[in-house]
Amino acid sequence: MPTWANPVMKLMTRHSTIVLATAFVLVLAVADVVVAAKKSPKVGFLRDVAPVLLRRCSGCHGGRVSRGGYRLHVFSELMRAGESGEASVVAGKPGASELFRRLLEKDPEIRMPRQDDALSEAEIDAIRRWIAGGAVFDGKDPDKPLRSQLPPRQHPMSPAAYPVPVPVFAMAFSPDGRQLAVSGYHEVTVWNPTDGRLIRRLGRRPQRIHSLDWTDDGGALLVGGGTPGEYGELALVDSPSGRVRHLYGTFDDVVLGAAISKDGKRVAAGSAGHETRAWPVDEIKPAWSSRVHSDWVTGVVFSGDGRFVVSASRDQTVKVHDAATGGLFTTYNGHRKQLGKFTGRFAVFAVGFDETAGRVLSVGAGKAIRIWDPVLAKSENGTAADMEGRFFKAGHTRFIAHGFGKTTFGLDARGGYAWAGGADGLVREFSVKSLKTVRSYEGLTDWVYTVAASRKGDLVAAAGYSGEVVVWSRTDGRVVARFLSAPGLKPAGR
Ligand code: HEC
Repeated sequence: MPTWANPVMKLMTRHSTIVLATAFVLVLAVADVVVAAKKSPKVGFLRDVAPVLLRRCSGCHGGRVSRGGYRLHVFSELMRAGESGEASVVAGKPGASELFRRLLEKDPEIRMPRQDDALSEAEIDAIRRWIAGGAVFDGKDPDKPLRSQLPPRQHPMSPAAYPVPVPVFAMAFSPDGRQLAVSGYHEVTVWNPTDGRLIRRLGRRPQRIHSLDWTDDGGALLVGGGTPGEYGELALVDSPSGRVRHLYGTFDDVVLGAAISKDGKRVAAGSAGHETRAWPVDEIKPAWSSRVHSDWVTGVVFSGDGRFVVSASRDQTVKVHDAATGGLFTTYNGHRKQLGKFTGRFAVFAVGFDETAGRVLSVGAGKAIRIWDPVLAKSENGTAADMEGRFFKAGHTRFIAHGFGKTTFGLDARGGYAWAGGADGLVREFSVKSLKTVRSYEGLTDWVYTVAASRKGDLVAAAGYSGEVVVWSRTDGRVVARFLSAPGLKPAGR
């Protein structure tokens, strides 16, 4: 289980529904593999075999652990025998291949995966046919980790009707404010934000969607997501057709943040695999890729002038990249502050940019939203020993004391205001200028993962763990719509 699941894992103890939701996810995930196997009779190693081995075996036979002296996360190592000295794969001969024989053993101590459920028949069959067909490697580099070479996955359809609600991780209002895109299970659902009616479903997307952003003409959505610990993907998806315009690429872990630049010319994304990458909007060849973070990249935003790509991370830093080259302009260390009022060391979970102030807003654990200028952040920084002192004295960072007791996961900023929500289940609006709380939005109680404001600034929406979406009018704070973002599932007791 990837550490990514932390906030959700914590909930498992309080909520039985997550157990159901997880079971549901597992059932459908198995269906994914069956669909893939049925669709094409020819087996491809990277498409059909490697994902199964990485998911079910690499925990004990991977980069960190090599039980039995055997690793299979890199192709050349997969082909090498382990401690037994038995050939792991003999091309053309499944019966002589230790890797295959181990899948069929009866004794759960010897059968692989050890002390776990056996692979499905379809998975075993795919591995058998791959070895029988000559054990061909269809990747780029047999000596590089397989996870970085996986092709885009074919995603299954979402269920016609959801058996249980799924958590909402991302949301975005269309530029005209008439549609609200919401992350679903293997899909993006699009709703009328004023009456809560489902407008359309954009299906065959990654299992989890963690980031959504509309193009300025409202004709497409940038969709970032994947499967935690396994796979990430960024795509530009046409709306209403659901056709994929560009699949920018795959990541070795789930994409947690993505954004389109204000001028619409570039896109950028960050993944739980510590990577940040950017593309010209119409090209699938990345302009650059950067691995300067040492933990999940949790959020990505462009500065208003398009000069910077700003990435937030659980490593307690926010990095400012040159948007054109990816070069590191500076590291914002304000969330590791040891001096002044809001001291502590905090993971950063969300980042935004307010154009009226020309400032980055960043937040996560801790008691304050930090507001700062990416250029000044460089002057505050340095390698000298007095960095902390200079940082404190320069005082360019401004703070909004949000008043939440727990971690903040969702943030949006525009027009001089910011909206945030998190594990308290509270949603609040703040003025970037006065740094004061302007309004509280009542109606959600469970963990809030995402908060969005319409561009006109008339509507605010929030959602999270429970799968329920609440939309408020900003003029009077009233609830305009409230719906469960699970097509076909009626909220209990209503
Ligand atoms: C929970 C840990 C665990 C998982 C998961 C696991 N294995 Fe193993 N595996 C072991 C251990 C321990 C050994 C060494 C003891 C033995 O040989 O049975 C081993 C040995 C092996 C060997 C023999 C290596 C040699 O030559 O000595 C192969 C091949 C193998 N595993 C393949 C797999 C495959 C394929 C999967 C996934 C389908 C898998 N394992 C999943 C723990 C695991």
